Amino acid sequence: MRLLFIGDIFGRPGRTIVRQRVHQLVSQHNIDLVIANAENSAGGFGLTPQIAEELFELGISVLTTGNHIWDKREIIDFFNSGANEPYSPARRVLRPANYPAGTPGVGLFQGTTRGGIPYAVLNLQGRVFMASSDDPFRVADELLKQVTAKVIFVDVHAEATSEKVALGFYLDGRVTAVVGTHTHVPTADERILPKGTAFQTDVGMTGPYDSVIGVQKELIINRFLTNLPARFEPATGDVKLCAVMVECDEKTGRASSILRIMISEND
Ligand SMILES: [Fe+2]
Repeated sequence: MRLLFIGDIFGRPGRTIVRQRVHQLVSQHNIDLVIANAENSAGGFGLTPQIAEELFELGISVLTTGNHIWDKREIIDFFNSGANEPYSPARRVLRPANYPAGTPGVGLFQGTTRGGIPYAVLNLQGRVFMASSDDPFRVADELLKQVTAKVIFVDVHAEATSEKVALGFYLDGRVTAVVGTHTHVPTADERILPKGTAFQTDVGMTGPYDSVIGVQKELIINRFLTNLPARFEPATGDVKLCAVMVECDEKTGRASSILRIMISEND
């Protein structure tokens, strides 16, 4: 079985390159399941229900997110609308699982591919250099007890490379893949860990690279120079799609390969 995970889709430029390229990637690599991080797909900040539906229509089955999930307030009603419907679109949008009990939404989705393969997607958030949350290590332990699927994909939305690598080794052999998001900068360390889990510290952003992690670079440089508050506007230039393709044995969930993908809008 092959799954494709698309890194942080940023604003309209990110959504556009996904729309233009995802079908080709799916057919070229014989992909069974597409997952994407969409926490900044709405104008560079947050995610709306309409944009979630638009991404599902492109063949993406599950959307993961992170610390920007509450930027568009309508996502709260969307989550609440799906609370009792395990396969609704609202349940296919995850927020990090290690948010406090009672937070709208969930961080784990269990489904079946069109080809009939059971799978699970778990979304976690790091605690280093980020807002406080529950322990992602122990929350993963607890949630994995509920999972019956062998194919398990984990998006670790975190700032620190050390925390992501540690979670990768901690979950090695228990899940199919541990892949990082949030920094918007892809790392060149994709590998299969000793017990069969595919890993990459950060997949990188799907969005405009002529920017400081998605935002117009002049605004961010000025912020560093002056510390003055400023409205951040999404950039538009040098758009790339960053993703990983993971191949695994659907009977055991063990990964056999991980391929780092970066496609430029001009390729
Ligand atoms: Fe983030």
